[in-house]
Amino acid sequence: MMTVEWRGKPVWIINRTEEMLQSLVKAADLLVDPKCEEPQQPEYCKNDTRSIKPNLMVVVGICTHLGCSPGQKFKTGAEEGMPPEWLGGFLCPCHGSTFDFAGRVYKNKPAPINLPVPPHTYLSDTRLVIG
Ligand code: FES
Repeated sequence: MMTVEWRGKPVWIINRTEEMLQSLVKAADLLVDPKCEEPQQPEYCKNDTRSIKPNLMVVVGICTHLGCSPGQKFKTGAEEGMPPEWLGGFLCPCHGSTFDFAGRVYKNKPAPINLPVPPHTYLSDTRLVIG
């Protein structure tokens, strides 16, 4: 995972493992908007991984509730003190919203919508342009 700045916001670029990708399938029923139908989002993120390349996630790392930065916490499996339904991803420390490894928010959390995917394009396998 690396963080870059775009328009003054942190953008996370994450090379997801196969285990992380599998957790996306399992989490679908627990999410507010699993198919990413938010109209402002790019068409290329309206799929099961919310990404152009299945393994690479590009997402703005700002909570859609009140703007805190969710922790870069990669939980896999059960963990003491964490919501049992959460399969791993990101946790906002301010009011407890949980997101999966595609930035999709879990139901019954204060954040109303998924973390936004910024417009982006791959120029090659190693070059990504955001914006
Ligand atoms: Fe993230 Fe409130 S700012 S849950």
